[in-house]
Amino acid sequence: MSDLVGYETEGRVAILPIDNPPVNALGIGVREGIMAQVDRAAADDSVEAIVLIGLGRTFPAGADIREFDQPTLEPHLIAIVDHLDTIEKPIVAAIHGTALGGGLELALGCHFRVAVPSARMGTPEVNLGIFPGAAGTQRLPRVAGLDHALELIVLGKPVGAATALEYGIVDDLIEGDLRAGAVAFAEKIIADGTPRRISSEPRTGIGSPEDHAETIEKYRELANRRMRGQDSPHQAIDSVVDGMTMSYPDAVQADRKRFELCKNSDQSQALRYAFFAEREASKIPDIGKEIAPREIASTGVIGAGTMGRGIVASLADSGLPVTVVETSQEALDNGMTEIVKLYDGMVQRGRIDAAEKDERLARITGAVGFEALSNTDLVIEAAFEDLDVKKQIFGDLDKVAKPGAILATNTSYMDIDAIAAATSRPEDVIGLHYFVPANAMRLLEVVRPAKAAPDAIATGMALAKKTGKIGVLARVCHGFIANRSRLPMVREATFLVEEGASPAQVDAVLTGLGMPMGPLAVSDLSGLDVSWRMRQSLADQHDPAHRYMHLADRMCELGRFGIKAGKGWYSYEDGGRRPVPDPETEAIAIEVAKEQGTPRRDISDDEIRERCLYAAINEGAKILDEGIAARASDIDIMWLYGFAYPRWRGGIMFTADEIGLPEIDQRVREFHAEHGKLWEPSPLLTRLAKEGGAFTR
Ligand code: 3HC
Repeated sequence: MSDLVGYETEGRVAILPIDNPPVNALGIGVREGIMAQVDRAAADDSVEAIVLIGLGRTFPAGADIREFDQPTLEPHLIAIVDHLDTIEKPIVAAIHGTALGGGLELALGCHFRVAVPSARMGTPEVNLGIFPGAAGTQRLPRVAGLDHALELIVLGKPVGAATALEYGIVDDLIEGDLRAGAVAFAEKIIADGTPRRISSEPRTGIGSPEDHAETIEKYRELANRRMRGQDSPHQAIDSVVDGMTMSYPDAVQADRKRFELCKNSDQSQALRYAFFAEREASKIPDIGKEIAPREIASTGVIGAGTMGRGIVASLADSGLPVTVVETSQEALDNGMTEIVKLYDGMVQRGRIDAAEKDERLARITGAVGFEALSNTDLVIEAAFEDLDVKKQIFGDLDKVAKPGAILATNTSYMDIDAIAAATSRPEDVIGLHYFVPANAMRLLEVVRPAKAAPDAIATGMALAKKTGKIGVLARVCHGFIANRSRLPMVREATFLVEEGASPAQVDAVLTGLGMPMGPLAVSDLSGLDVSWRMRQSLADQHDPAHRYMHLADRMCELGRFGIKAGKGWYSYEDGGRRPVPDPETEAIAIEVAKEQGTPRRDISDDEIRERCLYAAINEGAKILDEGIAARASDIDIMWLYGFAYPRWRGGIMFTADEIGLPEIDQRVREFHAEHGKLWEPSPLLTRLAKEGGAFTR
């Protein structure tokens, strides 16, 4: 028998500790163990109640996701949950850490639930492309009511123990030692003769969908809005609705088929891939856990522009003191005013209260001149994107920063090796590339220059974690991983407009893939002048054999900078942000095409999809081949968190594997023949396509 579930007794109470680190996932060994030990307790005459508890950091955090690719071995979790209904002795789930998914379903199978106040519980299965498949969709509505059940099941966000108590999911909160509290709770149940509460009762359906039409519709709409294009939230709702009209056993039966379909869907495969890819990203192949990050107790940010302010807020939000430095009192005052506005906005939107705002603002100090950074553990430069300016800043910083301080640049594409060389301590220089708005976007691209010390890199990754971000490592090259792999998509989008597609057609094809905005609407939002300036600064490095983005330049020359100018690829009426197709853009595209000798034609949606997506994938393959990314999944995480690529497609490299590399290689070669050098096929793509290999498997 499995030894992952123990058997101990305290008086009349049997305690079954689950011991399957790190998260007590309900793999086959645990399932076998629970079944056997529950039966042993049921048969043990000295036992009158049972406590199920997790050892280590948590109650089970769900089914073992790694088992999903194999046939499920018996006993299935649903069989265990249903079996608990038949045990005559009261069973108490004692919850700490996170009772998630199958973990919460297991707890719902128990007759009572107690939790420590710090515990969190929920059903995050929709985030994996499935839904609670061990009767959670049937039992949770019976226990917590339809609205709360749908909230947990459809939105997939866990709630804290206090909310769970309010929803009726837990019966009591235990202050102090959980095990002792749970045993005392069980003793009281025995003493009071409290009848067991069976969460599969009533066994009949629990209401009519018509009576609850409004609530059901509310969650359908929320699912459409928050999880656009994703099937599982709707499958979850269908399952809950089944439970209203069907008896419990029939609804569970219907769930089994639906669950299998979801589990085997492309979306679930992609979402499970993303789950593990995200965790993998934090592991750096040559920097093990033995390399400790440096201690960061104080931080500084150079520059209080849009990016600098976002970084300041991100640091202050995580409890770190920040000194923000500007070159003049006026620039500093402007920056500080904007930071206060940023927090006022959060208070207005109900994100934080006034007291929290004051606490966060109290962590921020403004200063003019670098001397204020002399005692700071980590400094992030967020100045203008100009290599000479940055070298100057790092040279000056080198003179005042304390030994061992991490000196980071937020550049989004520049040569950080050159920036590091402007200091006497290149081992302390790293890149921390934030995304706008830096306080809200969860991606942090941690860039590793050639001479950076391992513990400096470990510190960058630790900072990401501390500030609630996903840190992904990149080596130095122009644009690193994120911007370098995205540029070809934007480039092709603009070429396609020059060749005859409308911005709306191009964007519609990409939103059709599940991205919330197309690349041209995004350019309008972030400002076309940003990449224009970059092209100007790199003009002397332009390879004449590379097709050039003349149309994008012309848009800027005409002042069409995007939303802030009221016009860009689209026009924006009355200071609004809604893109309206603009015939002037077509006229400009026709003019530029004529000047460049570009034939205009009807362009199919397929061509738009292939050119935008395959250009990015081909670049991703080069990034991987050159070792700029440690693994293909790191590129995917950049796209999921940096560019809102739909998680249920896994990322561009996962999508490539789904489409098939021979197909992509073939099309890249055709585009290369047709459009020239920018389409040079990645040798890695070609090799893997020939060998039947893949990027992500
Ligand atoms: N199955 C398998 N492995 C799991 C797992 C699971 N359910 N949950 C976490 N792990 C692994 C992680 O991959 C990671 O492994 P690694 O160290 O080798 O990279 C390790 O456990 C620790 O996980 P985290 O790094 O994520 O640790 P955190 O402390 O940051 O977070 C957590 C802990 C909140 C529990 C988080 O891991 C999590 O959200 N896990 C997934 C929860 C979930 O989705 N549960 C539902 C599963 S599906 C299900 O139950 C179906 C049912 O309805 C039938």
